[in-house]
Amino acid sequence: MCGIVGYIGNNNAKDVLLEGLKRLEYRGYDSAGIAVRCDSSLVEIVKSEGKIDNLVKKISSLNINGTKGIGHSRWSTHGKPSEINAHPHHSDDYNVVGVHNGIIENYQELKEKLLRHDYSFYSETDTEVLIKLIDYYYKKYNIGPVDAINKAIVRSRGSFALALMFKDYSDQIWFAKKGSPLIIAKGEGESFLASDVPALLSYTNKVYYVDDFECGSISKNEIKFYDLNGDDITDTKKLVSIDWEADSVNKGIYPYYMIKEIHEQPEAIKETINAYLDKNNNIDFLHIGISEKYLKSLDEIYIYACGSAYHVGLVGAQIIENITGINARVELASEFKYRNYHMNPNALAIIISQSGETKDTYEALLKCKESNIKTLAICNVKGSTITRDADFTALTYAGPEIAVATTKAYSCQLVVLYLFSIALAFSKGQIDISRYRSLIEDISTIPQKIESILNNESTIQSLAQRLVNKKDVFFIGRGIDYALSMEASLKLKEISYIHSDSYAAGELKHGTLSLIDESVMVIAILTQPDLFEKMVSNIVEVKSRGGKVISLTTDNFNVQVKSDYNITIPTINPLFTPSLSIIPLQLLAYYTSIGKGIDPDKPKNLAKSVTVE
Ligand code: AGP
Ligand code: GLU
Repeated sequence: MCGIVGYIGNNNAKDVLLEGLKRLEYRGYDSAGIAVRCDSSLVEIVKSEGKIDNLVKKISSLNINGTKGIGHSRWSTHGKPSEINAHPHHSDDYNVVGVHNGIIENYQELKEKLLRHDYSFYSETDTEVLIKLIDYYYKKYNIGPVDAINKAIVRSRGSFALALMFKDYSDQIWFAKKGSPLIIAKGEGESFLASDVPALLSYTNKVYYVDDFECGSISKNEIKFYDLNGDDITDTKKLVSIDWEADSVNKGIYPYYMIKEIHEQPEAIKETINAYLDKNNNIDFLHIGISEKYLKSLDEIYIYACGSAYHVGLVGAQIIENITGINARVELASEFKYRNYHMNPNALAIIISQSGETKDTYEALLKCKESNIKTLAICNVKGSTITRDADFTALTYAGPEIAVATTKAYSCQLVVLYLFSIALAFSKGQIDISRYRSLIEDISTIPQKIESILNNESTIQSLAQRLVNKKDVFFIGRGIDYALSMEASLKLKEISYIHSDSYAAGELKHGTLSLIDESVMVIAILTQPDLFEKMVSNIVEVKSRGGKVISLTTDNFNVQVKSDYNITIPTINPLFTPSLSIIPLQLLAYYTSIGKGIDPDKPKNLAKSVTVE
């Protein structure tokens, strides 16, 4: 969840490392540090608690010059956030210096072993143990870095992305990975490593993805990969070109990434839709390996994802069931591992993830593979772990998403699922050609309708003032609106720290009504014609208990008299309203966060990509 960067080249390493760490800030962290090799025997380590800016300040008063180094932003798992626990860590004689992302589960047992061999420890971290274990094997067997790393890896349980410097190999930086993301990139006379692409995009867009149980080294002009046996596997690795613009990782004219990303949605959705339409405006999943014949053969859909991606699944499953004639089962990836239901061999499992690195989601994918269920990843990051292991990958074209709270990736995932559902329904003969065409036509209007909502941003900005001082906000909806309300509620709570929950409106009377009083704001979503009257009754239930109501409807409905405030979105096919409803609710969350003086890009305690269980 934290960030790793490494650099070896001709430039001042500290500048590259600090810029890389800044670029990775969105991943969430509590402390940071760098190690720069100043000459073959001297490594300077500087660490600090809190923001990268604290580290920058500290380093500016020091004279650190060197062209090789590693950096880390830490998301503490073992030991409190503190300077001493911050990375880089080192063996006592600085023979091995390293940074680590992940958790070493059996660190206690390894620590005891090392204590018996006269190692001592200055920090509470599992990382220091791993670094010293590598040092131990390196010296005990008098072997090179590859064998020392591999020996340590086979004895460690848990997950890691590692970047290491060895005193005797001062022209290389070494790396290893299991379970935590790590990429290697090649520039002109320089090489990099990082946990994520945005850290390096301003230098190069050519990257290698490190696979589990691989290790290797980078030097100015060479990148080497080895397997667990120590065999050179460099020739088997593929260099991937990332087609994101370097500029896309800047805020541009916006004060925060989140608002920039909200505004990027019309364009991102357009690009994503176009990627799955051929020149005749027919849906095309064949280019990612999914034929009509295969779709026709499916008799169930599973969807596994976490957080917002799970909410996309909840909407998608309803659409699939509405139009394809087959069932869809959606489950939180983090819960799926505890379930033991019979899996239908003719099912396709759809795995949704912005990052493609979420551990729980990845494990759901592995569980499907073990059960011989084919998998389709809907993912925003080309080459990410999930895309590499899925049978099929449908990329979303949102571009890099930096804000922790997802907006544009959520919206792009939705449209991929819409298109997939229509293709599935058509191949199964559940919709005729004219419905097929009109559904595609409806989807094509989404970007322009979102534009029109964004043009009214100031209305939502003022409405956010009504939420800033609230302690509890409830979202209610039915059917697809309920699925959407879950995402709206998550958005609000993650960046405004207001307690918020979403309820199926029909469930209010089964318990939640007891919470309603004058202090509570209820946001009611009513975009489904067949559920409209029932929802109006729910609004009345809330109002008669003193609650305040903001209603959200399409512009062909009118509930203004019934609620305190009203938000309208353009009318669209009721199946696709989530794509429009979410926009004002993202804005509402954003402006509430701003109104409370919170940085919406980096909510406390959260990380963009959750690579631990
Ligand atoms: C969304 O705003 C959250 N930050 C979070 O719920 C996120 O959707 C979840 O962690 C899944 O991430 P992924 O899409 O990268 O797998
Ligand atoms: N487990 C290590 C620690 O607590 C690394 C955490 C991280 O991924 O930042 O220091």
